[in-house]
Amino acid sequence: MRRSAGAAALSAATPASFTMRGAALVLVLVLVQMVPATAVCPAQCLCNHTALTVSCQSGRLEHFPIQLNPRVQRLDLAGNRITRLHGSIDYYTGLVSLNLSSNAVERLDALTFEHQRLLQDLDLASNRLELVARGSLAGLRRLRRLSLADNRLVRLDDGALGEADHLQRLDLSGNRLRALGGALSGLARLQALSIGSNRLTRVRAAELRALTDLRQLGLCHNGLQTLEGAEQLPELRWLDLSGNRLTTLPDLSALTKLSHLDVSANRLSTLAAAAPSTLRWLDLSANRLSRLRAADLAGLPHLRQLRLCDSAQLREVAADALSGCPQLHTLQLCNNSRLARLPDRLLVATLRRVSVRDCRLSALPAPAAAADLSWLDARGNQLSCNCSLRWLQEAVAAGRAADLRCAGPGSVSGRRLSLLATAELWCPPPPAPLALSLGLPLLVLALLGGAFCALCRRRRSHRTATAGVCVATLAQSHGTKGAAAAAGGGREWPRYWPCEVGAPAPHGTGKLHTAASVWAPRPVSAEPRLVLSADSVRGYSSDEQYSTSIFSCTDQPALALRPCRPTGRETRSARPPTGADQRQPPSQPP
Ligand SMILES: *[C@@H]1O[C@H](CO)[C@@H](O)[C@H](O)[C@H]1NC(C)=O
Ligand SMILES: *[C@@H]1O[C@H](CO)[C@@H](O)[C@H](O)[C@H]1NC(C)=O
Ligand SMILES: *[C@@H]1O[C@H](CO)[C@@H](O)[C@H](O)[C@H]1NC(C)=O
Ligand SMILES: *[C@@H]1O[C@H](CO)[C@@H](O)[C@H](O)[C@H]1NC(C)=O
Repeated sequence: MRRSAGAAALSAATPASFTMRGAALVLVLVLVQMVPATAVCPAQCLCNHTALTVSCQSGRLEHFPIQLNPRVQRLDLAGNRITRLHGSIDYYTGLVSLNLSSNAVERLDALTFEHQRLLQDLDLASNRLELVARGSLAGLRRLRRLSLADNRLVRLDDGALGEADHLQRLDLSGNRLRALGGALSGLARLQALSIGSNRLTRVRAAELRALTDLRQLGLCHNGLQTLEGAEQLPELRWLDLSGNRLTTLPDLSALTKLSHLDVSANRLSTLAAAAPSTLRWLDLSANRLSRLRAADLAGLPHLRQLRLCDSAQLREVAADALSGCPQLHTLQLCNNSRLARLPDRLLVATLRRVSVRDCRLSALPAPAAAADLSWLDARGNQLSCNCSLRWLQEAVAAGRAADLRCAGPGSVSGRRLSLLATAELWCPPPPAPLALSLGLPLLVLALLGGAFCALCRRRRSHRTATAGVCVATLAQSHGTKGAAAAAGGGREWPRYWPCEVGAPAPHGTGKLHTAASVWAPRPVSAEPRLVLSADSVRGYSSDEQYSTSIFSCTDQPALALRPCRPTGRETRSARPPTGADQRQPPSQPP
C-alpha cells in the first residue's frame, strides 16, 4: 500500500482541469503508459498498485474520484457522500468490483455503466435511489451480484434489471416496492433474490415467470396475502415468507427441491399439508396455531429442524406430532406462553437438540430411551422437581442440558436442579398398588385358590404338589400368556409360572406387570424373593408352607416354584425337580 503524498505531481489530473471527458480519458491513457504503478492515491484512500485495489471507505468523498489508477479492478467507496456517478466512472474500464454502499446516490442515469463490461459486483445499498429506469444498468454484461437494498425504490421499470442478464444474486430488500411488474423479466440466471421488507401485498405468477433458475427467494416482511406462481420455480431450495399476512400456506407441493421454509410470523391457523416432502428445515413460529398434530407434519419425512416458538395460542402438542418425522434432530418449542404440558412420548429418539424454554410446563417428558440429546433447554418454565426429573438432573451434570430453577414442590422451590441431592428429587409412593391393580376377579380367585389350597393341604401330605396345582390353576384360568412367556426361562418350574396374570399396572406406578395370588410351597428357594413392584421389594412368609404373594415376571424371572403334581418327594428338601417335572403340563384342579 502506498498513501500518495506525491499527489501534487499529478495535480493536473483534477476534474477542474478538464472540461471534456474525452480529453481526460486521453490523458489518463497517457498516464497509464507513463506511470502505471504510481498512479495518484487520494489521501483518504489506500491503494495497492500491485493488486489494483483501492479503498476509500468512509473518506468523506463528495465526488467519484477520477485520479486513481485507471486500471483499478476493485474499488471500495463505501460510506462516502457521493451523489453522482455518471461520467466519472468512465475513467475506469477495468472494474471488477465496485462498492458504493452508504453513499448518497440519487439517480442512475441511462448508460452510467456503459463501459463497465467487466464489472461483476456492484453494491449500491443504502443510497437514495428511487427508480431503476430502463437503460440504467445497460452495459453490465458480466454483472453477477447487485445490491440495491435499503434505497427508496418505488419503481422498477419493466425489463430494467434484465439488462444485467447475467445476474445471479439480486438484493432489493428494504425498499418501497408495491409490485414487481415486469422488472425481473430476462433474469433467467438469477439464483438468489431478496425482496424482503418492501410493500408487496401480492406476488403474481407472471412476475416470477422468468426466474427459472431461482434457488433462494426472500419475501419476508411484506404484506403478502398470497403468493402465486411458486410452482414456476422448480429449482427453489430456500423460501422465506416470514412476517407476512398469509392465512394459509401457498401450495408449494410442486417445489420438489425446497428444503428450507420459513413461514413464521404470519396468520396461519392451520397447516394444510401443502409443503413438499423434501423440507428439512421449517419455521412455523408466531402464527395462530393452537395445536400441533401428527397430520400437520405428516408429509415431511426429511424434516430435521422444526421451530415453533412465540405462539401465544399454542396449547397442545399431540403425542404423535413428531411421528411422521423420522429424521428430526432439532426441536424448538420456545416461548409458547400457553403450552402447559407435553405428551409423554414426544421427545423421539432422533432428537439431538431441544428447546422448550419459556413455556408454562410443570413437567417434562423424558426423552426416548435411545435418544442421544446433546442439548436440552427447559429454562423459564414452572417445573416441579420430583423423581420424574432425575434424568434431567443427570443431563445437566453431564453438560447436556441447561441448569434451571425448580418452581416446586415446596422444599425445593427456587433451588437449582443441579444442586439438589438425588434424594430430594422424590415422589410420594403410589397409593396402594395392590388394591389398585388387583381387580375384584383376582381377589375372588385368590380366595378360591386359598380355599382350594387349604383343601389340598389337608388332603395331601405332599405340600409341593398342592402348591403346584394352585399355580397351574391360576395360569390356566387367566389364559396361558404368563405360562407361555415363562416357558423358556425360569429355573424350577418355568412352564406354569403365572406371569402376566392380571392387568399391567397403570403407567407411573412402577413395573408391576403381574398381580396374582399364588399359594406356593416353602421354601421355594433359599431367600424369599417375590416382588410386589419395582419400587417396593417385599419378601413373603406367612406360614411355614404357603404364602400369598404378588409376582413380577420382570424382576424375578427365576423365581422358584415346584410342580403341582404329587411327586412323592418331601416338600422341605427344596430339591430341583426332575426334567420330567419341568415339562409336565399342569394337572387340572380336581
Ligand atoms: C498488495 O496486494 C498484494 C496481493 O494481494 C499483496 O501481496 C501485497 O502485500 C499488497 N501490498 C500492500 C502494500 O499491502
Ligand atoms: C461494501 O462495503 C460495505 C461496508 O464496508 C460492506 O458491508 C459490504 O459488504 C461491501 N459490499 C460488498 C459487495 O463487498
Ligand atoms: C414471546 O412470544 C410473544 C408472542 O407470543 C412475543 O410477543 C414475544 O416477543 C416473544 N418473546 C421473545 C423473547 O421472543
Ligand atoms: C412430578 O411432578 C409433576 C408436576 O407436578 C406431576 O405431574 C407428576 O405426576 C409428578 N410425578 C410423580 C411420579 O409424582
